Amino acid sequence: MVEGKDLMKIGIVGLGYVGLVTAAVLADQGNEIVGVDTDPEKIEKLRSGKSVIFEPGLDELLSANVERLEFSSSYEKLLSADAIFICVSTPDSTAGIDLKYVFSAFESLRKLKVRKPVAIKSTVIPGTAGSVLERTGIGCVSNPEFLREGTAIHDSVHPERVVIGGIDKENIAVFREIWKFTSAPVIETTNENAELIKYASNSFLAVKISFINEIANLCELIPECDVNIVAEGMGLDPRISPLFLRAGLGFGGSCLPKDTRAILKFSDTMGAKLQIVDAAIRVNNDRVHHAVERIEKMYGSLGDRKVCILGIAFKDDTDDVRYSKSWELAKEIESRGARVRAYDPVLHHASGVEVAKSPEECMKNSDFIIIGTEWNEFRNLNFETPGKVIDLRRLLDVELVDLAVGKHD
Ligand code: UGA
Repeated sequence: MVEGKDLMKIGIVGLGYVGLVTAAVLADQGNEIVGVDTDPEKIEKLRSGKSVIFEPGLDELLSANVERLEFSSSYEKLLSADAIFICVSTPDSTAGIDLKYVFSAFESLRKLKVRKPVAIKSTVIPGTAGSVLERTGIGCVSNPEFLREGTAIHDSVHPERVVIGGIDKENIAVFREIWKFTSAPVIETTNENAELIKYASNSFLAVKISFINEIANLCELIPECDVNIVAEGMGLDPRISPLFLRAGLGFGGSCLPKDTRAILKFSDTMGAKLQIVDAAIRVNNDRVHHAVERIEKMYGSLGDRKVCILGIAFKDDTDDVRYSKSWELAKEIESRGARVRAYDPVLHHASGVEVAKSPEECMKNSDFIIIGTEWNEFRNLNFETPGKVIDLRRLLDVELVDLAVGKHD
């Protein structure tokens, strides 16, 4: 907790990754937090001091600030808040993005006649703040979130930028004050720019990943080529940067796949289709198929083979399997008649996949050991097993593996 600051009472609606991390971080700055979620089970668990998600450092931060954190399923608790963040989910829909939880949160605030500044943190398409104003009469601020799962607390405390969009200068000032402790540069702009900055950022990251994955496909066909060396050489140019140039199975998770699809649909309806984003999605959709085809081309049919997959989560340091490429890989390999057993450092169950208790148990008697998620601890495993080691995340020294992404066969 930070001494000598003007403290606020901050309401957070929606206690998923973004909401809960924001609650913990702002409580740690000394603010009083009231977190509201319509899921009573979640509230019960949070009240008993347990986190509802796996995120490094989050349990500790919640416990350290327990006296400043109140959780409730009642919106009325928000009446005493000085400012409110909307952090509800914005799931996929055939129209691109489903905004029903955002609209319903604002509808509840309207009914309660909440007059305090409200910011949308959820990822929403440009024009959403405008639609909220039309529907409910509430003029809100757009304050998109850029944290990553696995490093969420660090990212929230040390963001590269704070984006605040809106019309009402007084409301904007309240949110500038809340994030002042980060010392990050602030972009103060329109709601629409703020909303689009979030989508353009995630889309660009997705494009970078798909770009390097296409270069990886090319490297696989050129003798003496290795995508990691190519990426290293590219990344030294500061205009390119080395980040998000790690070739592999492609991007998964609840954000990049969903957000690229949503902005593509949105751009289509606006009449300015984002063709590069479209291509990035198509490249990404082919990653698992490409990997399995390559394995079968090298080693023959996977039917009846025993396959160990290391990692099920969509990336390291999370237990999130939403749109996980590793999970998709397990299903694809199984569909070809192989027996799949997976291991993940934090996930001990995964729908439809047999999960081993240890990496050794997973690898034992397997014909193939495939790295599907980039968990750092897989680097230290003893791979002196009969199975062929296939590195689909380029985690290991290339000498240690039989087949690696972006390396000529
Ligand atoms: C992403 C963005 O990075 C965050 O800035 C954003 O706030 C968040 O979405 C969101 O919209 O909420 P996240 O989905 O947590 O964060 O994870 P990333 O670290 O971006 O990784 C996404 C996927 O890309 C993972 O499957 C990862 O394995 C893959 N990836 C990442 C690569 O294949 N190569 C890379 O070089 C980097």
